Amino acid sequence: MSEENTQQFEKIMSLMKRKGFIFQSSDIYGGLSAIYDYGPLGVLLKNNIQNEWWKAMVQKRDDIVGLDAAILMHPMVWKASGHVDSFSDPLVDCKKCNLRHRVDHILTNKGIDADDKMQLEELESLIKENNIVCPECGGELTKPRSFNLMLKTYLGPVESDENIVYLRPETAQGIYVNFKNVLNTYRVKIPFGIAQVGKAFRNEITTKQFIFRTREFTQMEMQYFVHPSQADDVYEEWKERRLRWFLDLGIREDRLRFKQHAKLAHYAKDAYDIEYEFPFGWKEVEGLHNRGDFDLSQHIKYSNKDLQYLDPETGEKYIPYIIETSIGLDRTILTFICNAYEEVEGGRTQTTESSKEVEYVLHLHPRIAPVKAAVLPLVKKEEKLLGIARDIASNLREDYITMYDDSGSIGRRYRRQDEIGTPFCITVDFDSLKDNTVTIRDRDTMKQDRIKITEIKDYLKDKIS
Ligand code: GAP
Repeated sequence: MSEENTQQFEKIMSLMKRKGFIFQSSDIYGGLSAIYDYGPLGVLLKNNIQNEWWKAMVQKRDDIVGLDAAILMHPMVWKASGHVDSFSDPLVDCKKCNLRHRVDHILTNKGIDADDKMQLEELESLIKENNIVCPECGGELTKPRSFNLMLKTYLGPVESDENIVYLRPETAQGIYVNFKNVLNTYRVKIPFGIAQVGKAFRNEITTKQFIFRTREFTQMEMQYFVHPSQADDVYEEWKERRLRWFLDLGIREDRLRFKQHAKLAHYAKDAYDIEYEFPFGWKEVEGLHNRGDFDLSQHIKYSNKDLQYLDPETGEKYIPYIIETSIGLDRTILTFICNAYEEVEGGRTQTTESSKEVEYVLHLHPRIAPVKAAVLPLVKKEEKLLGIARDIASNLREDYITMYDDSGSIGRRYRRQDEIGTPFCITVDFDSLKDNTVTIRDRDTMKQDRIKITEIKDYLKDKIS
């Protein structure tokens, strides 16, 4: 990462903490590595993004239904899914400083083509051929070995091997094991999808990129069940749709791209990532996979249950193929924040106090912005202005997250709202007393419209939708 990008990313992280979006977990005890908490603004942003996903994937479609499966599942699920045997990262230890690293990450950071699906012997040869040493201290590295990423715990009072359960590493399996339950109880016919949002856990080793890669995170996954003959076409449609979702919510087109996987995960017939260009480079935000009949076949084998589909019209019985869209909510939050972030040297609101400082603006799409509007009485001394402003704020709160702020100069208050991405600031001034109008300032253009107080809600509705 260039010096400039490193600095920019540090400023983004600091803004997130300073403004109450994201905190390190258990901060007062020195923090828990790669686990984060969402503060008052962070939780609003998180919920808004999740709602946009749910709306696009479930609410607006008549062929996708929702599910909320438990985090803990029967341990056989993870045997059948291949996670017990294959869900691992290749690691090396440094013989000098004892730090543990992901081999594929060390190699790719050196510009060497490598990934986590390579054989351990292949990775070992690459380390030797390229004289790779510990990136932290230059020490010699051990041979690569596999490290399973699943977190374990025990169910019940006895801590024995028979009582081991895993914290799910993906939400997808909850959908596969409920495929027949949904089919038998809800009026769905193939092709149809099941969507869910929930926590997933992975004991990640590389953890230095804030909420990009964490050990506890939220996934938003959708599994679309299709006839095998339709799988390729449906896969293409979902690739197109998912990319559009990001664009519709304001992600810059030149910072998005597809990347096809050269080496495939154990379950996939084909896999593409949607990548975003973060300050630390192009990285995966969402994975789209054609999983074929791998998952249902495995669960048929291990559970001995018939999970085939009987087509009511043709009488054909078959194991459906699955097209998966899998997106990490935390990583998507980081995508939206990096995409929205702007630093303005010398300020843009032309207040004397801002003229020498850097101003920060989050150009978040109004639909995902945590606070939709702020109501600001022009001066604090005039009680009548405060009364009107408070009434407007309380009325808006019926429909929108709204802030009321009467402290500091008006310029400083605009800046506070720009920093947290509030798209509209409503100012109550002396003219408001005469004609019941206010000004509404647009965060991005800084243009002000004068409108009637009674029209504020329609104005916001129009702009936000
Ligand atoms: N069910 C398929 C699956 O889990 P994946 O590519 O391993 O596929 C899907 O993960 C998405 O989950 C990724 O694109 C990413 O957004 C998110 N994700 C995966 N591991 C993560 C981690 N450690 N921290 C944050 N998000 C993660």
